[in-house]
Amino acid sequence: MKPFYITTAIDYVNGSPHIGHAYEKVLTDVIARFRRLQGDNVYFLTGTDEHGQKVQQSARKQGVAPQEFVDKVSAEFRALLPLLEISNDDFIRTTEDRHKKVVRKVLQDLYDRGEIYKAEYRGFYSTRQEQFLQEKDRLPDGSWPELFGEVTEIVEPNYFFKLRAHQDWLIEFLTKNENFIFPKYRQKQVLEFLREPLNDLCISRPRERLEWGIPLPFDEAYVTYVWFDALLNYLSAVSSSPGLWPADRHVIGKDILVPPHAVYWPIILHVAGLPLPGGLIVHGWWTMSGSKMSKSTGNALNPLDFVSEFGADAFRYFLIREMNVGQDSDFSREQFLVRYTGDLANDLGNLVNRTLNMTGRFAAGTIPAPEIDAEPEKEVRALWEKTRGEYLALFEGYQFHTALERLFVFIKSINAYIEKLAPWKLGKSTEPADAARLRTSLATMAEALRLATAALRPVMPASADKIMAVLGAPPSASWSDELAWGTRLTGSKVAEALVLFPRPAPKV
Ligand code: MSP
Repeated sequence: MKPFYITTAIDYVNGSPHIGHAYEKVLTDVIARFRRLQGDNVYFLTGTDEHGQKVQQSARKQGVAPQEFVDKVSAEFRALLPLLEISNDDFIRTTEDRHKKVVRKVLQDLYDRGEIYKAEYRGFYSTRQEQFLQEKDRLPDGSWPELFGEVTEIVEPNYFFKLRAHQDWLIEFLTKNENFIFPKYRQKQVLEFLREPLNDLCISRPRERLEWGIPLPFDEAYVTYVWFDALLNYLSAVSSSPGLWPADRHVIGKDILVPPHAVYWPIILHVAGLPLPGGLIVHGWWTMSGSKMSKSTGNALNPLDFVSEFGADAFRYFLIREMNVGQDSDFSREQFLVRYTGDLANDLGNLVNRTLNMTGRFAAGTIPAPEIDAEPEKEVRALWEKTRGEYLALFEGYQFHTALERLFVFIKSINAYIEKLAPWKLGKSTEPADAARLRTSLATMAEALRLATAALRPVMPASADKIMAVLGAPPSASWSDELAWGTRLTGSKVAEALVLFPRPAPKV
């Protein structure tokens, strides 16, 4: 079976990683881990986008060579991955030779096929910002904003990629493959955008204006436009791994759907005669007080602060529980603390500690066999069956926030079961029936906790391992086996305690 190949966008290295970047990696990681647990052979790619004007400018500002600059920032992005428990198989940098080779090969191929031509490019250029401006950059009175400095109209020869010639093909492709883009309403937006005729894409920059890029193979006086270069990372990373292309899913943010991923990328592949990816998963933005978190807005939060204060799993849980994939979500420390204290410390953390503590007190630390199958046990089991089915289906449909919501309803129901059975009261009774009920309650809470923990694996991998270890759970043959209600914990020795989600220190 072909491996399931999944990618994130590759990050610009002109600033440090923030929560938006971290989210995309975590989201993709949850999908990758879910698919692995379902038995797929997964190949997970992420990386950094290192060429272009902005990078050249940032390096110049710091007075260092671009390569030195990108080495440093790319390493920062890369170092974040293990801290977030990201299980990527590869990390691609667009300054690597393996990437540059593929970009030049594809460019030459498209040029040879007559899909790239040279023509006059006419546009308004800001020397201060070193960029071409668009009509929409003008102020309402028609003048250019102060930040652009002197703006001049330039006419210069450049290379263009024929997009317009393939517009009808793209419309037909998207119409036939109506689930190409998730969420579906984004696909409609792309088709809406395609109602207007496309302009051909200028894919070159003269070297005298921009040095920091991949030279065109057929004209070394130019470098490649950064989007054309960046998109090809998905292909260059697997160019020496036969059988991986096409990607099954590209995970990206909504700002880079139209035109790069929904227009340029399918057309490049189509023209190059390569198979198209299976689909695009398009997430929304993390905002702060309503505006997009980004370096330029100055509201970027460092994910490392949350990871070092609360642990990677709590941070991952929050991101996945809070964001409905496709929509925006506002990030606040207050909301983070609500989830951390409510769901993680109270519902899950307490359940773990009650289970360990009561098994220690009433069964000498060994999980007993269940003996009774009365109404309360039947209810917990029935709710698990329902929750498991819904959870897996919601994961398949990228509805992770709802899946976690349902799972925590189940976790709460285990706590309610414990309250109802009150093992601490049964433990005082001398009746044999109460002793059997007590043993059954310990077995039931441990099994229910084991199942909830197994379900959390793709989102909270380290915590799942820790809980399984303190429960003395034996390894399972497969995830679906692990998710089945049974008696595999009977006779397991449990640990005394586990502090998973300590109370946060008060902020001074
Ligand atoms: N380099 C391009 C992508 C090239 S892919 C061939 C780029 N880089 S980026 O660093 O600006 O963004 C990388 C990813 O992070 C994008 O998918 C973007 O949508 C995502 N995010 C950046 N800020 C974000 C938020 N505030 N919230 C959520 N994700 C956002 O675009």
